[in-house]
Amino acid sequence: MLSIDDMDMEKNNKNIDDNNELTLKLKKTFLDSSRVVFLTGAGISKESGIPTFRGQEGLWRKYDPTKIASYSAFVDQPSLVWEFFYSRQRLISLSSFNTAHESIGKLEKIKKPHGCWVLTQNIDGLHQRAGSKNVIELHGNIFGVCCINCYYKKNYSHSDFFNYYDEKKLPICHNCSKILKPNVVLFEEPLPQDEWREAIRLSSSCDLMIIVGTSLNVSPANMLPNYAMDNGAFLVEINPEPTWLSRIMDVSIRGNASNVLPQILDSIV
Ligand code: OAD
Repeated sequence: MLSIDDMDMEKNNKNIDDNNELTLKLKKTFLDSSRVVFLTGAGISKESGIPTFRGQEGLWRKYDPTKIASYSAFVDQPSLVWEFFYSRQRLISLSSFNTAHESIGKLEKIKKPHGCWVLTQNIDGLHQRAGSKNVIELHGNIFGVCCINCYYKKNYSHSDFFNYYDEKKLPICHNCSKILKPNVVLFEEPLPQDEWREAIRLSSSCDLMIIVGTSLNVSPANMLPNYAMDNGAFLVEINPEPTWLSRIMDVSIRGNASNVLPQILDSIV
């Protein structure tokens, strides 16, 4: 197994001379920070068997999101949108969290209450299943439903899924009989405002932001590292590929989240 010292790290911070120094710096920064924020995306769940959106095998290479994951597609052809989300619900309900989610859950326990947060673009609920308590879901949760007519909402969990799942029937609102929407942010929809405000508040007040498995292509979530940077936070990116914001990171660790995060955890505890 690779040690964190051997990993391919791009050190953008000119004061850090070697990987050992970097490991110590990361440990100290984590322990000293009054607030640590993880910003996560699809890459963290890749090794749980859930495909990412972009890149070679990304979902948006296979499917056109405007046809199956946009608000107008839901209004025009809800059955197509539900077909896509039912198949993802099925996959996610059968998946398990991996060592990356688990390490973040354990790192949260080391910090004081509310000292460590996950802001996730993922809708799979794997952070919570792995033990993280302070999780803000920026794009909703795939096991929830909501009504665009009367605003009824209900959250299910991955383990309820096979009790309410019926591929042939669209879910109907108990209040107003309209077709329910998956409670996720579709293209053309804004982020849930309470979650977004909280994400800005936490990013603007963190001392360390660790950005894991996101291409940072999607706005507005990709603005959060800038809020952290404006607060003088130390920025670390964990991703096998560079992203367009790699240039603002203090450190970019080029590796899979499920390898790198357990090593960060080991170096801290
Ligand atoms: P993307 O598919 O855009 O990016 C996934 C990132 O994960 C890429 O930068 C990969 O290099 C990286 N990656 C792949 N395998 C990894 C691994 N094992 N460990 C760490 N990183 C790895 O996914 P997101 O950035 O999450 O929105 O996409 C953001 C949003 O775009 C999604 O929430 C979704 C999508 O459209 C909505 O559906 C609203």
